[in-house]
Order: sequence, then structure tokens, then C-alpha cells
Amino acid sequence: MKGVILAGGLGTRMLPLTKITNKHLLPVYNQPMIYYPIQTLVRAGIDEIVLVTGGHYAGDFLNLLGNGKDFGLRFINYAYQEGEGGIADALRLARVFTGKDKIVVILGDNILEKDITEYVARFKDQEGAKILLKEVPDPERFGVAELDPAGRVVDIVEKPKKPKSNLAVIGVYMYDGQVYDIIQNLKPSARGELEITDVNTAYLRMGKLTADVIDGWWTDAGTYASLYRATRFVAEKVDPKLKDHWF
Ligand code: G1P
Repeated sequence: MKGVILAGGLGTRMLPLTKITNKHLLPVYNQPMIYYPIQTLVRAGIDEIVLVTGGHYAGDFLNLLGNGKDFGLRFINYAYQEGEGGIADALRLARVFTGKDKIVVILGDNILEKDITEYVARFKDQEGAKILLKEVPDPERFGVAELDPAGRVVDIVEKPKKPKSNLAVIGVYMYDGQVYDIIQNLKPSARGELEITDVNTAYLRMGKLTADVIDGWWTDAGTYASLYRATRFVAEKVDPKLKDHWF
């Protein structure tokens, strides 16, 4: 299985921090943000990665990551997304590298406490797609999944005003080779982007979407508040003594 990391966008929610660098290169405690999704994939046994970036400073990813050897990667390929076409538009660019292979996609600003090995292993035995979910206190900030009593997904809504559950769809998605045909048929959303939620909904309608609720903490790091939270989570993981040091 191959990995795809999506690290495009202009990072406008993070100005002025992103005036001089790409959002995914900002520090999260002791590492650049982009290290965390790479390590999540590597820990799940994925050593072939495509990184899709965009905007300004794209060349800095090459300076920082090189050929990926330091992370234990067999190779890392780079693709460049023009404009702000959305997450599914960025994923489209990985097609030339991953073809019909199954892929694990992770958003460049998503940080997980625990590894995803068991979910990836489970996905190897199914066709279609798998999403990962996590209970959050503020579901309206995310894609939100509604499950039936048997744990099957019945609906996914992007940033609902009145969420039907507290289960956020985290930025880790597993797809079979059909994903690129699905993206080709998507229409832009009201905000003019190709939405990853529409990709997942297409699999749901085909009856080919599974979901797992993950263990351990998860956070994105794409706003000032979530970057702060991510930094704190990581700091306490690296050095548990720090828990007593905050004011
Ligand atoms: C994106 C997805 C959303 C998902 C979130 C996870 O939102 O659209 O469904 O819950 O990532 O980080 P964005 O951060 O682009 O607003």
C-alpha cells in the first residue's frame, strides 16, 4: 500500500505565521508539523509516499525531507497543487504515482497519538474505502459521521451546524484504486472546492465504506488554537513530566 500526504493550501487561516513558510512546516513542539503524518504512515509499514504540496515555499519540503531516507522511506515523490481546489483536488495529483494500488491518505496537519497499523491491516481485506473517527467536543469544525447501532456509517456531513454525533472524520482515509474515477465526477462545493467528504459519501452510497473509531488522542493543527493543542499533546507525549509544568 502507498501513502499520500496532502500538504497544499495557502494557510490563510494561519497568517502571519504562513507569510514566510508553509503551514505544514511550522513547529509542533520539537518537530516540523509534516514529520508527524510521515511517521504515522511509516509506523503503519508504508514506505512509499507521495507528498502533494502547493502555494509558496513548496521547495522547502524538498530541502527538509530530501529523498525520505532519514524517515525509513523507500521513496518520496512530490506533486504540486495549483490554487486552492480542495483536498480531493490535491489527491487527484497522486494518481500518476499510485495507479490502481490501495492508498492511505493523511492530511499534513493531522497528528495522532497512536499508530494506525490495525486499521490499515483491516482495510487490506476489504474493497472500497475506510474512514477513521474520533469523539470530539467541537464536531461542527469537522466532517461528522452518523452511525447506526451496528456501527455502520449512515451519513457524513461536512461542518454541520447541528451535528448528529460527536464523531469527527479525522484526516486519515483509505481508498482503493476507484477513488480517482470518483474524484473525476465530483462537482465543486459551495466554497468552490472538491470535498473529501463527497468522495467518502460516494463510497457510502455504493455500500463500500467502513469506519473505525480510533484509540488515543487526535488533533489537527491548522488553526492557532489547534496548533497550540497539538504542541501541548506532543510535548506531554515526549516528556510526561511537562503535565505538571503548565500554568
Ligand atoms: C478537513 C475535512 C474534514 C475533516 C478535517 C480533519 O477539514 O474537510 O472533513 O474532518 O479535515 O482534519 P479542513 O481542516 O480542511 O477544514
